[in-house]
Amino acid sequence: MSENNMMEKLVSLCKRRGFIFPGSEIYGGLANSWDYGPLGVELKNNIKKLWWKKFVQQRDDMVGIDAALMMNPKVWQASGHISNFSDPLIECKKCHTRFRADTFDQEKCPNCKGTEFTAAKEFNLMFKTFMGPAEEEANIVYFRPETAQAMFVDFPQVVETSRQRIPFGIAQTGKAFRNEITPGNFIFRTREFEQMEIEYFVHEKDWEKYFEYWLEQMKSWLSDIGVDSSKLHYVDIGDGDRAHYSKRTVDIEFDYPFGQKELYGIAYRSNHDLTQHQNVSKQDLEYRDPETGEKFLPHVVEPTFGVDRTVLAVLLSAYTEIEGGRSTTTEAIKESEVVLKIDKKIAPVKVAVLPLSKKDEVSIPAKDLANKLRKYWYVQYDETGSIGKRYRRQDEIGTPYCVTYDFDSLEDKKVTVRDRDTMTQERVSIDDLEKYFKERFED
Ligand code: GAP
Repeated sequence: MSENNMMEKLVSLCKRRGFIFPGSEIYGGLANSWDYGPLGVELKNNIKKLWWKKFVQQRDDMVGIDAALMMNPKVWQASGHISNFSDPLIECKKCHTRFRADTFDQEKCPNCKGTEFTAAKEFNLMFKTFMGPAEEEANIVYFRPETAQAMFVDFPQVVETSRQRIPFGIAQTGKAFRNEITPGNFIFRTREFEQMEIEYFVHEKDWEKYFEYWLEQMKSWLSDIGVDSSKLHYVDIGDGDRAHYSKRTVDIEFDYPFGQKELYGIAYRSNHDLTQHQNVSKQDLEYRDPETGEKFLPHVVEPTFGVDRTVLAVLLSAYTEIEGGRSTTTEAIKESEVVLKIDKKIAPVKVAVLPLSKKDEVSIPAKDLANKLRKYWYVQYDETGSIGKRYRRQDEIGTPYCVTYDFDSLEDKKVTVRDRDTMTQERVSIDDLEKYFKERFED
């Protein structure tokens, strides 16, 4: 399978099975906007929930916030986003298509073959809108281009209310917006996306230690969610290429079918942001060490995770095509089969209940069983089509376990549990089923 082909297949599967489809499609779409469908939202929510559990709830040195998405514009003045958050842009003089100057390496315009371009000029990536009814300069607000800033701006309230002591972190997940010049590659680069970010506040002398520590934590997370480690690269970003606030950045890059590109990043932001906010707001943002009495502006290590790129890397790592099928039943399946080997912790559907007959005597207890399991997990009940086809449908959306309920189940009160990856089948007592799955789903 060629790598381009791989992307086409994944986009098509996502659309066909309700993971992700083009946004506003009945109106012809909106360029590069994507909607998460019934399965996509489960996968995305499972990723966010697991992240929050690992990095916030299971730690005593981390607290979360959920801040307003539109902030006082002075935030972006202080953070440097108004003056620095831009990409260089050139425009084709003939068709006026715009390109990012730093990545454009062609002689001719790919759109109209024109050969003349304007000189590069800086284009600010923040989306603007107006707060209130008057569309005037004084009412301009920006949609946040990163979730990070609220964690700096709220730093004093968090210290006061949570009684955390340095080193500690603040975490936030949520939408961010960037008016990207060249969005594309499915959900890789969009203008509206989600981030999961941590600002970890440390004493300056400790930043290198925590930088290494958080890099390891990011590796551990990637392993938790089943991202293919052979496709990961850790790239130290050179002096001229880092974001304006960063003194060290390591990008975690992934081999996507369209090339090796950024998945996550970790940056040492020094005390740049707190210093800037202290200067512009004229508020005292210093931290006072309760033991030594030392007052200082903490330094920050920032691990940042794009949610949509996580979804993409998870799907690409999980996508497995089996030529000629897996012959799970007596039905000969000739064409290739797709199995999404998504880690069971984040799989959208955890269990499928499949009765072997539509007759009431089988389907009613099978539905009861599905309802019982729904108390704990997201369960699909499916009675349409042959059992082979139903297994294939579940394999294609990554369901780790299928439970078949048959006529014998009425007698022996057992069901057959099939494992997606090994295809082994086990008879399990219905009474033991909750325990059986709890053992397998709990980490
Ligand atoms: N607070 C630091 C920050 O925002 P960034 O590298 O600009 O750093 C963080 O963005 C992460 O957000 C990236 O590693 C990527 O996963 C995701 N991301 C950034 N721009 C994106 C876009 N246009 N579409 C989808 N994800 C994006």
